Order: sequence, then C-alpha cells, then structure tokens
Amino acid sequence: MNGTNSEGNTLKEGGFYTNPNAIVIVTHSPEETMEFGHHLARQIPAGCVVRLEGELGSGKTTLTKGMVAGLGAAREEEVTSPSFTLVHEYGAERKVRHADLYRVETSRELSTLGLEDAIDQGAILIVEWAEKLEGRIAAREIRIKMEWIDDSKRRIIVEGLNVSPEGLFPQSIVRDEDFR
Ligand SMILES: Nc1ncnc2c1ncn2[C@@H]1O[C@H](COP(=O)(O)OP(=O)(O)O)[C@@H](O)[C@H]1O
Ligand SMILES: [Mg+2]
Repeated sequence: MNGTNSEGNTLKEGGFYTNPNAIVIVTHSPEETMEFGHHLARQIPAGCVVRLEGELGSGKTTLTKGMVAGLGAAREEEVTSPSFTLVHEYGAERKVRHADLYRVETSRELSTLGLEDAIDQGAILIVEWAEKLEGRIAAREIRIKMEWIDDSKRRIIVEGLNVSPEGLFPQSIVRDEDFR
C-alpha cells in the first residue's frame, strides 16, 4: 500500500483500509448501491447494529433503502431519510430501526432515541452518522464507510461480516482491489 488508492485518494490512517477483513467495493449508480444493500441484508443478523459513516451525499440513505428492502421490511421508495425525525421504523414487527444522528448534539438527545431498545427487541438498527454514537452499543456491529468518488461512483467499505466477498458480490458491482 503506498498511501493512495486507484482514485488518487489518500488512505486514512488507522481507518477501514488497514483491516484485512474489510470488504471494499465501488458502485456506479444509486441503483447499484441499493442492489448491494439487498445482498448485504442477507448477512445481517437480528439484534445487530449497522454503523454507517461517510459525508453528506455519500449514499448512506441510499444503501439503507436497499438493506431495508432486502430485509423485506419496506419497499425502497418507502425508506426516506430520518434526518429531521431522527428515527424511522420499518416492518410489521418493527424489525428495522433507521436512525440519522447528523442533527443530534448532546448525549441526552442521543439517549432519548431509545436506540438500544431496538436491539433488545431483536430489531436491526441502522445508524447514519454512527461517528456520533458514544461508546458502543452492546450488540454485534457491522461497520460501513461510504466515500464519494465522483458524481456516480461511491466506495463502500464493510467491516464485521463473516462472509467472503464472493458470497456477497453481485457481478455488476466491481470489487475495488487496486489499493490492497
Ligand atoms: N453510486 C451511488 N451510490 C449511492 N448514491 C449515489 C451514487 N451515485 C450517485 N448517488 C446520489 O448521491 C446521493 C446520495 O444521497 P444519500 O443516500 O441521501 O446520502 P447520505 O445519506 O449519505 O447523505 C443521492 O442523490 C444519489 O442519487
Ligand atoms: Mg442520509
């Protein structure tokens, strides 16, 4: 690794890239990101936290649409950003809780969201701006970092799945191997 990847971006110190078990892919459209979300959904166990990190517009909500649909909890178009309401729930048994912490400023606010209750109820918790989660939620975690490459390309880095990339990848989505 020489510090830059195929896109010329500088790799972050101590970040996702240094984990040899991370799965890294590049998607080329929102549809591909949603499709990847469908494939990911099959690997997400109940009672798990999916931590999404990445700048505004990096595709966190788009990926969530695919995951929620893949879990059979709602259709993609029914999944909208909870950036004002902070939390949305999907599924007849409320099996997916989707939170966006962008506007959360204090730990008190964070604690009113009841995020851990979702885990206790066996739901899957998907959290945008997971950087703002203080400490860890006592649950299995899948960490996903999303990066903007250009208008239509996003890099998605997944940590915490016990699955080989081959078991996860739709053929239309290219694995980003160049900077390994
Ligand atoms: N490959 C891609 N994956 C995801 N979103 C993409 C992609 N290419 C373009 N986009 C666009 O980027 C935006 C991502 O927005 P969103 O998912 O709301 O991001 P975030 O939740 O991280 O702020 C959408 O307008 C989407 O159409
Ligand atoms: Mg969002």
